[in-house]
Amino acid sequence: MSGESTYNPGNGFTKWMDTRLPILRLAHDSFVDYPTPKNLNYWWTFGGILTFCLVTQIITGIILAMHYTPHVDFAFNSVEHIMRNVNYGWLIRYIHANGASMFFLAVYIHIFRGLYYGSYKAPREVLWILGVIIYLLMMAAAFMGYVLPWGQMSLWGATVITNLFGAIPVVGESVAIWLWGGYSIDNPTLNRFFSLHYLIPFLILGVVILHIWALHVPGNNNPVGISVKSKQDTVPFHPYYTVKDGFALTVFLILFAYFIFFAPNVLGHADNYIQANPLVTPAHIVPEWYLLPFYAILRAVPDKLGGVALMFGAIFILFLLPWLDTSKVRSARYRPLFRQFYALLVVDCLLLGYLGAQPAEGIYIVLARIGTFYYFAHFLVVLPVLGIIEKPKAVPESISEPILGAQPAE
Ligand code: HEM
Repeated sequence: MSGESTYNPGNGFTKWMDTRLPILRLAHDSFVDYPTPKNLNYWWTFGGILTFCLVTQIITGIILAMHYTPHVDFAFNSVEHIMRNVNYGWLIRYIHANGASMFFLAVYIHIFRGLYYGSYKAPREVLWILGVIIYLLMMAAAFMGYVLPWGQMSLWGATVITNLFGAIPVVGESVAIWLWGGYSIDNPTLNRFFSLHYLIPFLILGVVILHIWALHVPGNNNPVGISVKSKQDTVPFHPYYTVKDGFALTVFLILFAYFIFFAPNVLGHADNYIQANPLVTPAHIVPEWYLLPFYAILRAVPDKLGGVALMFGAIFILFLLPWLDTSKVRSARYRPLFRQFYALLVVDCLLLGYLGAQPAEGIYIVLARIGTFYYFAHFLVVLPVLGIIEKPKAVPESISEPILGAQPAE
């Protein structure tokens, strides 16, 4: 980790341990005395909130797996058994189901924080790329998790998404059959989805460890986007940010609790309380809210393969972002033009989310095409061009002197 270690083992045991496995030193230097920019705002509390979400999903998921049966004849009823017979099963399930939504809410805020403050720029490219990998894994885990209760939306959502692979030229059909483990979604599919759904969160955990490692080498970015220059610019992580993160987590938990206790099904689809039936197609097949923008992009394109390519492209483009944004100034605070396009991107993503839930026809399709066009134009055209033509505002010289000593941007 960055900087000199400040750890002093306090007693015989910790001294003994420190010369054998300096894990307490690592924890101390990473989460106690870790020098953190002193100007971080509340948008920086979401990394900690995400860590909480991941741990919560893993713990509640392990308990659910003790009572769940991954078989097409029993899965739906085993979930009902959890809800009705298992002690506090309803609570564990509602935490897990709504926890997925809260996890995505937090990750979207975390990503858009990074987009606004230029946290993806050098020297944090690897940190960003690891984040995009986590995001992809989160989507895979959420998609497979939604199949497990074996309701109507589970089956038909999975049918829509796995059929997309059939659009791949030449090998598409074979790939789909290979994914299903048969000629349609059936017991082998449910079984492997359960296995992978259990595995992926641990992969996410591994990548999160790399993510935090890659954060601690260059250190945090901050709202002004200028690098830390001296000790004056930082405070120790504990108690300053443990308290700030703790407060933010508490507020986040109030919202989380609202969903669990007062509206546990509002984010889900009623059809998923009907057991999966391959003979009855629901009137509207919609994914969970957090996948809707991608669903809108998929359906905006008249060609199936083109839709699939753009949908995956919408995520993969994020890998290139550190090199597409050529501006020397990190934070949007000093980029008035960028700020306006950033606002447009936020509106665009919300619009795509709304359109993903509407029928793929008429004005909805037209708007989805405009939204898709802007999404790609933002990254491929707007950001590279802004990097060249935008005149940023004067950037302060250091974090500690945001006004005094203001200098024109390079
Ligand atoms: C399980 C999901 C994730 C966890 C647990 C996680 C955790 C964290 C933590 C603890 C931090 C430091 C505190 C903070 O800046 O908020 C952080 C920073 C960061 N994360 Fe994540 N993260 C996750 C997903 C993502 C994703 C999906 C992206 C982007 C696609 C991302 C990009 C970043 C960036 C760029 C920073 C650096 C911000 C800075 O330097 O100020 N993270 N993350």
